[in-house]
Amino acid sequence: MSKSVLILPGDGIGPEIVTEAEKVLNALVENRGLEISTEQGLIGGSAIDETGVPLPDETLAMGKQSDAVLLGAVGGPKWDKIERSLRPERGLLAIRAGLDLYANLRPAILYKELAEASSLKPEVIGALDIMIVRELTGGIYFGQPRGIRTLDDGQREGFNTLVYKESEIERIAHTAFDVAMKRNKKVCSVDKANVLEATELWREVVTRVAKDYPEVSLEHMYVDNAAMQLVRAPGQFDVIVTTNMFGDILSDLASMLTGSIGMLPSASLNAEGQGMYEPIHGSAPDIAGQNIANPLATIISTAMMLRYSLAEVAQADRVEQAVQKVLASGLRTADIVSEGMTRVSTSEMGDAVVAAL
Ligand code: IPM
Ligand code: MG
Repeated sequence: MSKSVLILPGDGIGPEIVTEAEKVLNALVENRGLEISTEQGLIGGSAIDETGVPLPDETLAMGKQSDAVLLGAVGGPKWDKIERSLRPERGLLAIRAGLDLYANLRPAILYKELAEASSLKPEVIGALDIMIVRELTGGIYFGQPRGIRTLDDGQREGFNTLVYKESEIERIAHTAFDVAMKRNKKVCSVDKANVLEATELWREVVTRVAKDYPEVSLEHMYVDNAAMQLVRAPGQFDVIVTTNMFGDILSDLASMLTGSIGMLPSASLNAEGQGMYEPIHGSAPDIAGQNIANPLATIISTAMMLRYSLAEVAQADRVEQAVQKVLASGLRTADIVSEGMTRVSTSEMGDAVVAAL
């Protein structure tokens, strides 16, 4: 049965990197007979320019109909001044919420070819393979009330609300333990239970869910310590499960351990296994349109899409192997280039992955 993929290029480098991922997908359709149809939609700043809103109803409706969504990136200085609720980032949050994509998987894997590019010394970094499971549709990103108000004394006050229901914590904890069962059976739950009640409850609920997984060892860590441990001894982690905001921060941190934020993919899944796939990096407006961005995070996100939403596990393996082969051959985009390597453009990197396929 043919599967449908909604492609949302977005803003900044989004269109460039998504084009390279599409090349990879098309190559699989043409050479391996995959039955995948694609259509494009608007999100973020480009949607604002055309329709006035960052997530048009049509895009969400198309997303609901599709088997998977592949997204580039959203945002840029051009839209920073418009009303807060209409900014590009709100489009991204709205599609995550609209498709109920509560489970965000962010693997941080060090390709041995890129050990040089890691910000850590080789003896500290070791063989890094961490899966960050980030709660994606709750917490302080969505909690009400929120806003900026003017107080009686005339000064303004910004406020947000960190809230988690037991059911929200339970389902993301199940995701983390299920993922751990297929890996090294270790979960580290990251919170700030010594200060924040919402994460005190988080810790309690995760501990309760752990009882369903006797084979998995569970550890709890405060987020400040977790940040320190990630750069001190990252090898101790297998699966990290954490809140929306802590996951946002720790996944950027983890990306630097792997050499470049341009390398890290992500999958955001709902209870039905439908997913949206995107690189964890932003729209990098400073380098947009120059054909120098690294398309590999988006290409590896495409591999995750083949694996988790399109039931094409063998093809996912092939894409990941092709990326490895290209790195082994010494090709590097600007963000990961080092002495003795060959610097290539965004499109040359995409072509090389297709050739390696
Ligand atoms: C991410 C990004 C987004 C987030 C932004 C663009 C809204 O940083 O996916 O990590 O904070 O979730
Ligand atoms: Mg982020």
